[in-house]
Amino acid sequence: MADDLQIVKGDKTEQYQNLIPQIKSLLFGEPDLIANLANITAALKEQFGWFWVGFYIVKEDELVLGPFQGPVACTRIKKGRGVCGSSWDKAATLIVPDVEKFPGHIACSSISKSEIVLPVLKNGIVWGVLDVDSELLNQFDQIDQFYLEQILALIEL
Ligand code: SME
Repeated sequence: MADDLQIVKGDKTEQYQNLIPQIKSLLFGEPDLIANLANITAALKEQFGWFWVGFYIVKEDELVLGPFQGPVACTRIKKGRGVCGSSWDKAATLIVPDVEKFPGHIACSSISKSEIVLPVLKNGIVWGVLDVDSELLNQFDQIDQFYLEQILALIEL
Protein backbone atom coordinates (compact mmCIF):
# COMPACT_ATOMS: atom_id res chain seq x y z
CA MET A 1 0.00 0.00 0.00
CA ALA A 2 1.25 3.47 -0.90
CA ASP A 3 2.08 5.97 1.81
CA ASP A 4 0.06 9.15 1.97
CA LEU A 5 1.12 11.84 -0.44
CA GLN A 6 3.11 14.65 1.17
CA ILE A 7 1.43 17.86 0.02
CA VAL A 8 3.34 21.16 0.08
CA LYS A 9 2.27 24.75 -0.23
CA GLY A 10 4.40 27.27 -2.10
CA ASP A 11 4.85 28.25 -5.69
CA LYS A 12 4.04 25.97 -8.57
CA THR A 13 7.64 24.95 -9.16
CA GLU A 14 8.08 23.88 -5.53
CA GLN A 15 4.86 21.94 -5.69
CA TYR A 16 5.93 20.04 -8.81
CA GLN A 17 9.44 19.44 -7.47
CA ASN A 18 8.01 17.93 -4.31
CA LEU A 19 5.44 15.88 -6.17
CA ILE A 20 7.50 14.35 -8.98
CA PRO A 21 9.73 12.12 -6.79
CA GLN A 22 6.58 10.87 -5.06
CA ILE A 23 4.97 10.02 -8.40
CA LYS A 24 8.19 8.19 -9.34
CA SER A 25 7.92 6.10 -6.17
CA LEU A 26 4.26 5.38 -6.82
CA LEU A 27 5.04 4.05 -10.30
CA PHE A 28 8.24 2.22 -9.33
CA GLY A 29 7.94 -1.52 -9.89
CA GLU A 30 4.29 -1.34 -10.92
CA PRO A 31 3.72 -2.57 -14.47
CA ASP A 32 -0.04 -2.02 -14.59
CA LEU A 33 -0.65 0.97 -16.85
CA ILE A 34 -4.20 1.79 -15.72
CA ALA A 35 -3.15 1.71 -12.07
CA ASN A 36 -0.26 4.06 -12.83
CA LEU A 37 -2.38 6.49 -14.86
CA ALA A 38 -4.98 6.49 -12.07
CA ASN A 39 -2.38 7.29 -9.41
CA ILE A 40 -0.89 10.10 -11.51
CA THR A 41 -4.29 11.77 -11.82
CA ALA A 42 -4.96 11.34 -8.09
CA ALA A 43 -1.56 12.75 -7.11
CA LEU A 44 -1.99 15.80 -9.36
CA LYS A 45 -5.53 16.42 -8.15
CA GLU A 46 -4.48 16.11 -4.51
CA GLN A 47 -1.50 18.45 -4.79
CA PHE A 48 -3.02 21.12 -7.02
CA GLY A 49 -6.75 20.81 -6.35
CA TRP A 50 -7.55 21.29 -10.03
CA PHE A 51 -11.13 20.87 -11.14
CA TRP A 52 -10.45 17.92 -13.45
CA VAL A 53 -7.36 15.86 -14.29
CA GLY A 54 -7.49 12.89 -16.60
CA PHE A 55 -6.26 10.85 -19.50
CA TYR A 56 -7.93 10.21 -22.81
CA ILE A 57 -6.60 7.23 -24.77
CA VAL A 58 -6.52 6.90 -28.57
CA LYS A 59 -8.78 4.06 -29.71
CA GLU A 60 -9.21 3.84 -33.49
CA ASP A 61 -10.38 7.30 -34.64
CA GLU A 62 -11.36 8.64 -31.22
CA LEU A 63 -10.03 9.59 -27.81
CA VAL A 64 -11.76 7.53 -25.15
CA LEU A 65 -11.94 8.59 -21.51
CA GLY A 66 -9.34 6.90 -19.30
CA PRO A 67 -8.41 7.23 -15.62
CA PHE A 68 -9.37 10.63 -14.21
CA GLN A 69 -10.19 12.61 -11.07
CA GLY A 70 -13.08 15.03 -11.04
CA PRO A 71 -16.66 15.19 -12.25
CA VAL A 72 -17.97 12.84 -14.93
CA ALA A 73 -16.73 13.86 -18.38
CA CYS A 74 -17.30 13.38 -22.10
CA THR A 75 -16.49 9.77 -22.99
CA ARG A 76 -15.40 10.07 -26.63
CA ILE A 77 -13.70 12.89 -28.57
CA LYS A 78 -12.97 12.80 -32.31
CA LYS A 79 -9.55 13.68 -33.72
CA GLY A 80 -9.28 17.44 -34.25
CA ARG A 81 -12.28 18.21 -32.00
CA GLY A 82 -11.94 20.40 -28.93
CA VAL A 83 -8.68 21.03 -27.13
CA CYS A 84 -7.98 17.34 -26.57
CA GLY A 85 -8.66 16.32 -30.18
CA SER A 86 -6.55 19.24 -31.42
CA SER A 87 -3.65 18.28 -29.17
CA TRP A 88 -3.85 14.76 -30.61
CA ASP A 89 -4.10 16.06 -34.19
CA LYS A 90 -1.11 18.41 -33.80
CA ALA A 91 0.85 16.11 -31.44
CA ALA A 92 1.45 19.25 -29.41
CA THR A 93 0.75 20.68 -25.98
CA LEU A 94 -2.05 23.25 -25.98
CA ILE A 95 -2.40 25.85 -23.24
CA VAL A 96 -5.82 27.51 -23.27
CA PRO A 97 -6.13 30.52 -20.92
CA ASP A 98 -9.85 30.98 -21.66
CA VAL A 99 -11.73 27.98 -23.03
CA GLU A 100 -14.54 30.16 -24.36
CA LYS A 101 -12.05 31.70 -26.78
CA PHE A 102 -10.89 28.31 -28.12
CA PRO A 103 -12.82 27.51 -31.30
CA GLY A 104 -14.55 24.15 -30.94
CA HIS A 105 -13.85 23.77 -27.24
CA ILE A 106 -15.85 20.86 -25.84
CA ALA A 107 -17.52 21.94 -22.61
CA CYS A 108 -17.81 18.79 -20.52
CA SER A 109 -18.55 21.23 -17.70
CA SER A 110 -19.38 24.93 -17.76
CA ILE A 111 -17.28 25.29 -14.59
CA SER A 112 -14.05 24.69 -16.50
CA LYS A 113 -12.43 27.99 -17.56
CA SER A 114 -8.86 27.20 -18.60
CA GLU A 115 -6.97 24.07 -19.51
CA ILE A 116 -3.74 22.45 -20.62
CA VAL A 117 -3.66 19.34 -22.78
CA LEU A 118 -0.45 17.40 -23.41
CA PRO A 119 0.03 14.54 -25.84
CA VAL A 120 1.31 11.24 -24.46
CA LEU A 121 3.63 9.74 -27.06
CA LYS A 122 4.60 6.15 -27.72
CA ASN A 123 7.34 5.69 -30.32
CA GLY A 124 6.65 9.21 -31.58
CA ILE A 125 2.92 8.55 -32.12
CA VAL A 126 0.18 10.04 -29.93
CA TRP A 127 -1.08 7.27 -27.64
CA GLY A 128 -3.35 9.54 -25.62
CA VAL A 129 -3.52 12.92 -23.94
CA LEU A 130 -3.43 14.31 -20.41
CA ASP A 131 -6.09 16.99 -19.88
CA VAL A 132 -6.05 19.32 -16.86
CA ASP A 133 -8.91 21.77 -16.32
CA SER A 134 -9.28 24.66 -13.87
CA GLU A 135 -12.35 26.55 -12.78
CA LEU A 136 -10.22 29.73 -12.94
CA LEU A 137 -9.06 31.57 -16.05
CA ASN A 138 -5.40 31.55 -17.10
CA GLN A 139 -4.14 28.88 -14.73
CA PHE A 140 -1.59 27.09 -16.91
CA ASP A 141 1.72 28.12 -18.43
CA GLN A 142 5.11 26.79 -19.57
CA ILE A 143 5.97 25.78 -16.01
CA ASP A 144 3.05 23.36 -16.00
CA GLN A 145 4.01 22.14 -19.45
CA PHE A 146 7.62 21.56 -18.38
CA TYR A 147 6.78 19.55 -15.27
CA LEU A 148 3.75 17.72 -16.64
CA GLU A 149 5.93 16.55 -19.55
CA GLN A 150 8.41 15.20 -17.00
CA ILE A 151 5.59 13.30 -15.31
CA LEU A 152 4.36 11.88 -18.62
CA ALA A 153 7.91 10.72 -19.41
CA LEU A 154 7.71 8.46 -16.33
CA ILE A 155 4.90 6.40 -17.85
CA GLU A 156 6.00 3.14 -19.44
CA LEU A 157 3.56 2.51 -22.26
N1 SME B 1 -12.59 20.45 -22.73
C1 SME B 1 -12.00 19.32 -23.41
C2 SME B 1 -12.86 18.11 -23.28
C3 SME B 1 -12.52 17.23 -22.15
S1 SME B 1 -13.08 17.73 -20.68
O1 SME B 1 -12.94 19.11 -20.40
C4 SME B 1 -12.75 16.75 -19.44
C5 SME B 1 -11.76 19.64 -24.87
O2 SME B 1 -12.18 20.68 -25.38
O3 SME B 1 -11.15 18.83 -25.53
